[in-house]
Amino acid sequence: MDITDSQKLQKEVVKLKEQKKIIGLVPTMGALHHGHLTLVDFAFQYCDYVIVSIFVNPTQFNNAGDLKNYPKNHQSDYDLLMSNNPNTIVFSPSVEGIYGNQVQAEEFDFGSIVQYMEGQFRSGHFNGVGTILKHLFDIVKPHKAFFGEKDYQQLALVKKLVQITGQDVEVIGCPTSRTASGLAESSRNFRLTEKQLDEAALIHLSLQKAKAAFHAEKDIQEIKTIVKSLFDASQGLDLEYFEIAAADDLVPVTQIKSDNSYRGFMAAFSGDVRLIDNIAF
Ligand code: PAF
Repeated sequence: MDITDSQKLQKEVVKLKEQKKIIGLVPTMGALHHGHLTLVDFAFQYCDYVIVSIFVNPTQFNNAGDLKNYPKNHQSDYDLLMSNNPNTIVFSPSVEGIYGNQVQAEEFDFGSIVQYMEGQFRSGHFNGVGTILKHLFDIVKPHKAFFGEKDYQQLALVKKLVQITGQDVEVIGCPTSRTASGLAESSRNFRLTEKQLDEAALIHLSLQKAKAAFHAEKDIQEIKTIVKSLFDASQGLDLEYFEIAAADDLVPVTQIKSDNSYRGFMAAFSGDVRLIDNIAF
């Protein structure tokens, strides 16, 4: 089923809820790949019906060129989802259908979770993400919503968003889907050559090495030096940042406390393609 009209979607959701069906939402911006299907399959473990929204959200782009060039292939996205699981409902609203004539991001106070790492390099992005998800939760009213751990700050933001708005939706994180080399699946990988794809395996590999050094009780500065030297010795990959941050407030740390849990976060460029990843330490 492919629905563009919000009211039509709401009627469908009401009908399914009357039948006691559990409804999941997987928000996407389309250009779907295997990683998205992993997320949809994950959602089907918890839900009878999964609504996949396809909406290229203008308020989360810092750059008008990126928005304009964002790949759109609705028919193949739809076919992929339907062949994957026929209990999928595709919701692809128009910009006007979501924003009316006010294409504007709301300002949220997400606190420390959006201040570092991606927050430092993508200004305004997170308010745009919060705004679209608030709209989507209002329209769809799913029982549960699913987000990949690859965008860990986004996942933390959505958990915070529902606390702020009081929207009744359970936010569930899905483990990052990876290629055989460990590279996190992303639509940006399609822009890499075979050689660049091979080189980009270093992102996950260096996170794992950092994790090993962390468990060998090296201090943070030493771990950062190890990661930096791996990138310095690499071909064609530039490290933008590597941080170890507390898993709850996502504030980068310079010292480890034994009773906290931590994650390693990284962004790197392969040519002009920016790749991010993170893992639990
Ligand atoms: O992760 C994404 O693709 C987007 O940020 C999302 C969650 C669909 C909101 O537009």
